[in-house]
Amino acid sequence: MYQQSQPEPIDAISRRSLLSAAAVGALALTLPPVARAPASPGGARVRRAVRPYSTPLPIPEVLTGADLTIPMREAEVAILPGRKTQMWTYGASFPGPTIRRPAGATTRVRFEHRLPQQAGELTVHLHGGHNRCTEDGQPGGLTDAQPQSLYCDISSGLPAAQSGNDLLITPGGDRTYTYEQIEEGAPERSAFQWYHDHRLDRTARNVWRGLAGMWIVDDDFDASLPLPRGERDIALMLADRSFDAYNQLADPFAAERRPPNDGVTGRHVLVNGAALPHHRVRPQRYRLRVLNASHFRAYELRLSGGLPMIQIATDAGLMPRPVRRSRVLLGPGERVELVVDFAAARGEHVHLLSGRRAHGPKGLGSATYAGPLMQFRVGTKREADRSAVPPQLRPLPAWVAEAPATPSHMWRFTVSGGFRPRWLVNGRSFDPTYADATARLGETVTWELRNQTAVAHLIHLHHTDWYMISRNGRRPPPWEACLKDTFFLDAGERVLIAGRVSDYTGKYVIHCHMLDHEDHGLMSQFEVLA
Ligand code: C2O
Ligand code: CU
Repeated sequence: MYQQSQPEPIDAISRRSLLSAAAVGALALTLPPVARAPASPGGARVRRAVRPYSTPLPIPEVLTGADLTIPMREAEVAILPGRKTQMWTYGASFPGPTIRRPAGATTRVRFEHRLPQQAGELTVHLHGGHNRCTEDGQPGGLTDAQPQSLYCDISSGLPAAQSGNDLLITPGGDRTYTYEQIEEGAPERSAFQWYHDHRLDRTARNVWRGLAGMWIVDDDFDASLPLPRGERDIALMLADRSFDAYNQLADPFAAERRPPNDGVTGRHVLVNGAALPHHRVRPQRYRLRVLNASHFRAYELRLSGGLPMIQIATDAGLMPRPVRRSRVLLGPGERVELVVDFAAARGEHVHLLSGRRAHGPKGLGSATYAGPLMQFRVGTKREADRSAVPPQLRPLPAWVAEAPATPSHMWRFTVSGGFRPRWLVNGRSFDPTYADATARLGETVTWELRNQTAVAHLIHLHHTDWYMISRNGRRPPPWEACLKDTFFLDAGERVLIAGRVSDYTGKYVIHCHMLDHEDHGLMSQFEVLA
């Protein structure tokens, strides 16, 4: 029933006809099956249909050193069956290598720009990290390679230090980022983070081509818990992409896509860079870390056979208490960590699926993908399992109780009118010299996020982790009454969050993690003052 190969990216068709995301999903499921033998001009078959669950789940290489070098370069990556896909990669793979480091341990990563000149300047952001603003992957401003911005208000001729251009990586050059992995002077909390490109106007294109990788921060507290570890701790990156008949990435960015219809979705949902992979597991507990690295698509995760998922962590690491979930909504940029006990499915195949959001809002970007994502093949051999999910995990930090009840700042997200609409934050598109709010080191601020558009947004704030106080005036569900860094706001929603700024001063961005929205103006800044 699920078509594995279509000659034209369905997202291109849907954008042209401005269908809602819900209609797109329905369309994807009702298209007649197409039998095709895509051929190169010479007649050689270059693409074969995806045979569901025939590919093993790729596990990216794990780097654990304090001083790392990662070349950003073109590489041929095996994604779909048949011809390899040329991508822009971190370290010649997609996803890039997984970096795994102890909290509090300084880590230096030298990123070398070996991509073609046309890639222009690049910048790398560690999403979920708490870092000095110079190490945060600032988007930068206009350059010779990028002399204008269609959607952002940026003056040309700004001094490099004002636009953030001094922090960019030029073709042929390199930059070493220093990550101290501390918070309030102490080691930061364990968390599942990720790194990706963050360049002004071009983040969507650069990430689509492959510039994304995962990062795991470990700490002593997490290690002291009896959670599954080792090969029973698996990180999964979900990312959708479309391909042409030669297995090369489609280019949805060639045509102009205008707000509010600028969400790019791909035909294939890849898990760690493979379409519908399988993974062999033992009939024991596993810790599954799931990242939604898609540009626009949301998922509602569930397991076949109704196998329960115990959520233990959010974007920002361990929750105060585990929460049993039957479905988990995950928008672009969000992460979730789930403990799944495969003992209940010994000898069976369990599928990780995405389903339709029950009674979900109808706005563009709110509907979830419907279809299978991957298969777990559960072994038959009974083995003792000494892992467990403790009833208490990590308590909330003390500052949460001190957060002001009324917001000191409101972030309003709107879309402008006119011939070329833009996304706006408090009436402006992105300007690297402008900060819309300030906070002082050591201060706990409460801010309101207000989505005043008819489209969903995933609002992500840099610098620190944020506690959700309320959603639409009501107490959030237990899986959101937590620290997080990315917030799902359906059309018209408002969310109250509190955060404690510490350690580093300077400007930090707040933006939508639907990458086209970010590129098309939905980004602003706040400034942390001494
Ligand atoms: Cu994952 Cu500012 O981004
Ligand atoms: Cu958005």
